[in-house]
Amino acid sequence: MGITLLDLQRKKRSGEKITMLTAYDEPMARMIDEAGIDMVLVGDSVGMVILGYSSTVPVTMEEMLHHTKAVRRGIRHAFLVGDLPFMSYQASKEEAIRNAGRFIKEAGCDAVKLEGGEEMADKVQGIVRAGIPVLGHIGLTPQSISKLSGYRVQGRDLASAKKLLRDASALEEAGAFGVVLECIPYQLAKAITERTSLITIGIGAGPHCDGQVLVIHDILGLFEKFVPRFVKVYAHLAPQIREAIKQFKDEVESGIFPDYKHAFSMEEGEWKRLLEDIT
Ligand code: KIV
Repeated sequence: MGITLLDLQRKKRSGEKITMLTAYDEPMARMIDEAGIDMVLVGDSVGMVILGYSSTVPVTMEEMLHHTKAVRRGIRHAFLVGDLPFMSYQASKEEAIRNAGRFIKEAGCDAVKLEGGEEMADKVQGIVRAGIPVLGHIGLTPQSISKLSGYRVQGRDLASAKKLLRDASALEEAGAFGVVLECIPYQLAKAITERTSLITIGIGAGPHCDGQVLVIHDILGLFEKFVPRFVKVYAHLAPQIREAIKQFKDEVESGIFPDYKHAFSMEEGEWKRLLEDIT
């Protein structure tokens, strides 16, 4: 049996930190799962780190399901969350329930994530009533990047801090089990963590959340277009990959690769008989 909602809630109560990373394909999901990470998110960040879009806005349901199915095949223990892409849940409660259902039924997710607080409460309630656990996402919500005028810290003034507290309460009342807090002051993240029963997962929200999430390509140094200040880069893989590709190119061009160690052979007599038959 993999990690369940009850396990995550127990961790919150006991103060044990919850770990979460994104994944978009089977081999990476397998490595993350084997490392004992609690939750895996197939984020719509797939659009930026894998598909080459300049934001998460163009990502479609079909793209999300394609990657989520691959991730599912790599996971045995972690709690798997699928990210509802832009315009798959905003238009109506019915559409939100139907698309959330696809993540569970077609891609084998344990829960779905969606962006927004108060404004999305009716959708969250509908999805939860359909039997699907929901993780909210407030603060910097990349699907609304145009409305937010760019990637900036949220909740720094009284009005927006109060709004985020209301958003968290609305998600709690609607039945969400948790919330991603992105790019907000750590004091506000602490207040939300203490004042609600929601499992808070921070990204750029300081150390007081119940858990932390980061994008796997960011921590491995594989996404080089920009690195947000809240990201800690644990490995710099992009230069190593470039070097390996360059070595392959040099060795093929100079005849070093393939050598006989990387080739197949047949016994000399056998080859001669074969040659006679051919000619
Ligand atoms: O899409 C994503 O990867 C996310 C995380 C950064 C929380 O929403």
